[in-house]
Amino acid sequence: MVVSSLSLLMLATLPYATWAIPAVHFIAARAVSVSTPLGTAQGTLDVDGANRFAVRYANSTRWAPSAVVTEWNLPNGSDDPTALPLQCPQINVDPSTYSEDCLSMILYVPVNLTADSPASTLVWIHGGSFDSGSATFPGLDGSNLAVATDSIVAVIQYRLGALGLLIPNGSTNYAVEDVINALKFLGQVLPSFGGDASMITLAGQSSGAGMIRTLLAAPSASSLFRSAILQSDPMDYGFLSLDTQAQLQSTFNYLVSCSASDTACQMALTLDEILNAQVTLENEADDLFPSTGQGEPLHPVLDGQLVTTPLDSTAPFPAVSKPLLLTNVHNEAGPTIYNLVFPGPDPIPAVEFEPVVDASLGANRTAIVMSSPFYPVDPNGDARVPLQVLGTDYIWRCPTWTLARNWVANGGSAFVGMYTVGATYPLNADIPYCLEDGVVCHQDDIYIVFGTAPDPTPAQSTLTAEMQTRYKAFIATGNPNVPGLDPWLPATTSDVYAKEFGVETTPNGEVPIRACTPSFWGEAVQYDYQFFDI
Ligand SMILES: *[C@@H]1O[C@H](CO)[C@@H](O)[C@H](O)[C@H]1NC(C)=O
Ligand SMILES: *[C@@H]1O[C@H](CO)[C@@H](O)[C@H](O)[C@H]1NC(C)=O
Ligand SMILES: *[C@@H]1O[C@H](CO)[C@@H](O)[C@H](O)[C@H]1NC(C)=O
Ligand SMILES: *[C@@H]1O[C@H](CO)[C@@H](O)[C@H](O)[C@H]1NC(C)=O
Ligand SMILES: *[C@@H]1O[C@H](CO)[C@@H](O)[C@H](O)[C@H]1NC(C)=O
Repeated sequence: MVVSSLSLLMLATLPYATWAIPAVHFIAARAVSVSTPLGTAQGTLDVDGANRFAVRYANSTRWAPSAVVTEWNLPNGSDDPTALPLQCPQINVDPSTYSEDCLSMILYVPVNLTADSPASTLVWIHGGSFDSGSATFPGLDGSNLAVATDSIVAVIQYRLGALGLLIPNGSTNYAVEDVINALKFLGQVLPSFGGDASMITLAGQSSGAGMIRTLLAAPSASSLFRSAILQSDPMDYGFLSLDTQAQLQSTFNYLVSCSASDTACQMALTLDEILNAQVTLENEADDLFPSTGQGEPLHPVLDGQLVTTPLDSTAPFPAVSKPLLLTNVHNEAGPTIYNLVFPGPDPIPAVEFEPVVDASLGANRTAIVMSSPFYPVDPNGDARVPLQVLGTDYIWRCPTWTLARNWVANGGSAFVGMYTVGATYPLNADIPYCLEDGVVCHQDDIYIVFGTAPDPTPAQSTLTAEMQTRYKAFIATGNPNVPGLDPWLPATTSDVYAKEFGVETTPNGEVPIRACTPSFWGEAVQYDYQFFDI
């Protein structure tokens, strides 16, 4: 293995192992129906005391903008109210589990939703690097979360990969518009389920949180939700520039041998042809167009129309008001460093630290990192230890704290946290590092929030109860503080007060700042969105 070709930018590329679907469990079906302005919603009683309604919220033809449905229909023309939606087309899953007709969501409505006031809704946007994932991925059954928060939970899908983000004629951000259409659909139907369309909180993990950041940067989406929860957003990547998007697009059109205007050619492509071209492009993107990064080369575009601000330090920050929860996990970069970059059990010699940093950051930024006190390398130790800390800071933790400071400085409120207890997500189950005591890898917060960890430990159950209690308060009031739980201080421009969740490992349970100071990451060492001037 040639170490210098490896890069921390591989970070959020988390190719999913093929695993058996379905991940959402069933119980004996008990049919329920609800009358909505769009027709009768048919659903079924799910586990944990919520009724589950799968529905197609928008229809679409390939590479055309989606349109909100005008009639309530089950996903993909199904006539079985207990069936789960098909996923959006993606690699590493059985093709029989996906369909291009995938703009569906699953609503989880507590049987005993509080009757005396309309309920809030939490809309979950799944992760998966914008090219994988679905509403039926492991742990995303929203019943427990809906009951615990006394709210409606909607787990939504959006078009992935080339089908959502590489539109041959040059349009952009269709996947983002899909999510906007999901929110418009909810606006029409929530009252029928006891919900209030003006009380929507968005929550998502990884690229799902990146999608939410995109909506925060899209003025036309602002009225559709009132607060947001971003878990483990790899904010370092920022958006794509229109110029980079155009280059990705023309490369994709070349790979599929269809011109921008040849609709007949585009419609005749098989899904295999589209997915193969997408994977080829994703593998080459970082070499051809370095600002894309390797982690999730396809992502939303700063197009100046839908998405009008980078929401970062490269342009004036807009006035904001929505409350945010911003969390990371303790070892975000664990899967990257211990599985993608250096798979295997053997320690990596300390001398390999610098070449990997150099391949990620280039010589100038590497020199500053090497002369800083933040990433000490033990000459006799394992290079993966400081690489993991650096990767977590670089891609996730520090840019998240930078956003928190900017958000607060411009009128919003933000609460920042970090998970020190997690529950191993299936993707991490074969990575020994992620199973070590005290290690919480990227995605290991998902089961905790949803309350879906199989055989939870007492520490996991305790943390699930705490986070669901805080989410319940936050989606109702914009503040996650609840009597009886430790105070969670709001971020200020000078201190983000990042709170540890799980086992407190530092005095007062406050995450040490270390390299996430305003003077280091984002100033002395630029984030990629600064470095590439996106
Ligand atoms: C709903 O409330 C009723 C009455 O309090 C109770 O008997 C029932 O168990 C509750 N159902 C669920 C699923 O919580
Ligand atoms: C691309 O095609 C779609 C579907 O026909 C259309 O709505 C959109 O305006 C087109 N975009 C451009 C840039 O021509
Ligand atoms: C999409 O929905 C609209 C309105 O419900 C309908 O007229 C149209 O035929 C649908 N298109 C497809 C491709 O299903
Ligand atoms: C999804 O719908 C399409 C079009 O009706 C159909 O051909 C396909 O069999 C459906 N897929 C599944 C898994 O039901
Ligand atoms: C590195 O720094 C030097 C000196 O400031 C500058 O001239 C050069 O353009 C920088 N290189 C990159 C890739 O930013």
